Amino acid sequence: TPLVLLIIIGAYLLGSISSAVLICRLYGLPDPRESGSGNPGATNVLRLGGRGAAAMVLLCDILKGMLPVWLSYLIGVNPFLLGFIGIAACLGHIYPIFFHFRGGKGVATAFGALAPIGWDLSGMLAGTWLLTVLVTGYSSMGSMVTALAAPLFTWWVKPEYTMPVAMLSCLIVFRHHDNVRRLLDGKESKIWKKFSRTG
Ligand code: G3P
Repeated sequence: TPLVLLIIIGAYLLGSISSAVLICRLYGLPDPRESGSGNPGATNVLRLGGRGAAAMVLLCDILKGMLPVWLSYLIGVNPFLLGFIGIAACLGHIYPIFFHFRGGKGVATAFGALAPIGWDLSGMLAGTWLLTVLVTGYSSMGSMVTALAAPLFTWWVKPEYTMPVAMLSCLIVFRHHDNVRRLLDGKESKIWKKFSRTG
């Protein structure tokens, strides 16, 4: 229906608002696309020294995925199209029309887009990310392990969403290719260093 098409475009446009870039400007921090890992996401904002700013970025990026999917769910959009809406929000975050198509990795936005599926899934995803980061020390490792586990968890709790979630997982892992190279070269920075640098 035309309404759903409008929602998909709206989700893409909302996703395209790079909260990391805007919030860093607001906080007087360096442009996250030019410093640290070069990624406009909560992890890199934390790396640049802004704990409060990083928390804000995380929240905004989660909401970019959560709001369009949840609103669509509430107005009765069918599961198949809900998947498209979630993917559109993440594509906006990763390839933002307002920021020369240079966006982030889609982890927080995908997490937000999956939240309406249920607290059980959200809990498993957050738990997997935290556990992996606690064990390895790498945010990117947490994101990739969680992305790989997400289709399995989804298949277990709400099998009808497995396909869109698997597509998001592929996109997220693909966006981490620089992190994979840094991990292999032993050059990836640990999240603990980021925590100790306050700003
Ligand atoms: O969510 C992105 C995270 O997995 C890695 O970020 O800045 O370390 O490349 P970054």
